[in-house]
Amino acid sequence: MRRKLAAGNWKMNGLKASLAELTALAAAPAPSQTDRLICPPLTLVAQAAGVSGGIAIGGQDCHTATSGAHTGDVSAEMLADAGATSVIVGHSERREDHGETDALVRTKAEAIWAAGLTSIICLGESLAQREAGETLDVIGTQLEGSTPDAATGANTVIAYEPIWAIGTGLIPTLEQIAEVHDFIRAKLVARFGEDGNAIRILYGGSVKPSNATEIFAVSNVDGALVGGASLKATDFQAIIDALDAA
Ligand code: 13P
Repeated sequence: MRRKLAAGNWKMNGLKASLAELTALAAAPAPSQTDRLICPPLTLVAQAAGVSGGIAIGGQDCHTATSGAHTGDVSAEMLADAGATSVIVGHSERREDHGETDALVRTKAEAIWAAGLTSIICLGESLAQREAGETLDVIGTQLEGSTPDAATGANTVIAYEPIWAIGTGLIPTLEQIAEVHDFIRAKLVARFGEDGNAIRILYGGSVKPSNATEIFAVSNVDGALVGGASLKATDFQAIIDALDAA
């Protein structure tokens, strides 16, 4: 039985005052079936970990190395030291803005494991790829190339985030979400056996309180990776509640 996961990705948003949103979330009763995670910007990770109560804290990216001459980068070990328990890797914004490849994402995922943390590996097709009927090919290639061989339910989470649904208010149909999530599940089981059944698959892209319940009823949707709606405690709490009730 997979526990559910409500994960918030604050992206490059949040100053110290934003920690009040986290404090508000932490004051709510813990859901019974749902793990909660917030990935604030790097500047807030350590402080967030100090006020987050039962909510786990994660990073949004890391370097492949543990330390060294890499100006501006951060290692998984540093994130762990600051109190993080997970790190997002291969977000489409990293793949686009920083040219990250599947091979790099895979190496980062292994670096995250080496620091004792969980890798949240993101996959997603562009609108052009979806319209060309290439979605499953793209997702299959990204999944294969970005996921290291030793993935388990404890060290890995997969996030399916169609690029065209991120920050746009558009979401795929529920049938389209089911098609991709069922496809990812089948690929994980084919490659990892029973471990493939234990790996959680999150949906991400314009998840809001208003659409959360219908998305969480879709097969193989084990939770969400939420951007904009994770910035406000009331919105994210409504999504947590919808997931826990699903
Ligand atoms: P939005 O929820 O703002 O569409 O962002 C999704 C996302 O990219 C989370 O990683």
